[in-house]
Amino acid sequence: MDKIVMAKRAASEKAAQYVRDGMVVGLGTGSTAYWAIQKLGEMTKNGLQIKAVATSNQSEALAKELQIPLIAFTDIDGIDVTIDGADEVDDEWNLIKGGGGALLREKIIASASKELIVVADEGKKVEQLGKFHLPVEIVQFGYELTLRKLASYGCIPHLRMSGEKRFITDNGNFIVDCEFGRIEQPSELHVALNMIPGVVENGLFIHLATKVIVGFGDGSVRELGR
Ligand code: A5P
Repeated sequence: MDKIVMAKRAASEKAAQYVRDGMVVGLGTGSTAYWAIQKLGEMTKNGLQIKAVATSNQSEALAKELQIPLIAFTDIDGIDVTIDGADEVDDEWNLIKGGGGALLREKIIASASKELIVVADEGKKVEQLGKFHLPVEIVQFGYELTLRKLASYGCIPHLRMSGEKRFITDNGNFIVDCEFGRIEQPSELHVALNMIPGVVENGLFIHLATKVIVGFGDGSVRELGR
């Protein structure tokens, strides 16, 4: 198995150990969270009793395939734990997410979760956020204007494409990948970007992660301390 895949799998399988009978579990999105969902599928098959909510259509489909029971939001008070990946994690455990385009649902679910366990391969750990282009979900109407507003915050905005077509999120919106280079003040930027009319949500996850598990190519894992 490829070393990065091994690292992602190891981190995700470690995170799954925190899931207990009776929990409502948020299922993340992406190639790392994929392994957490796989592991939870196996655990469910072996008798683990959980109910799950998914952060994307893709993860929902995988959960169904693995027969992980899904539950409607109307039937839960909150979410006990969510396991999700990240594109970058800084020393304060602030994150950039949205590389897969699922940032809005991911943030709604993370915000409703008592615990957000971030699973990542070692390459995701950074001192400062921003090298990874920050994904921002925007409505389609007037997107040209929204792109200009985003640029006024010091980034080069790239409208995300999927082949020849514009990428469309599960919510019917566009994604703009904002090239900042370095993000000096993530909390402030997070608030400012969400104030722009047309922006639905941005991929900065500030003070949401409660645990970060990093996986390495040799299959070992490390839980980060703060
Ligand atoms: C999905 O929109 C993202 O937020 C992912 O969680 C993030 O991009 C990490 O993805 P990988 O685990 O595939 O790197």
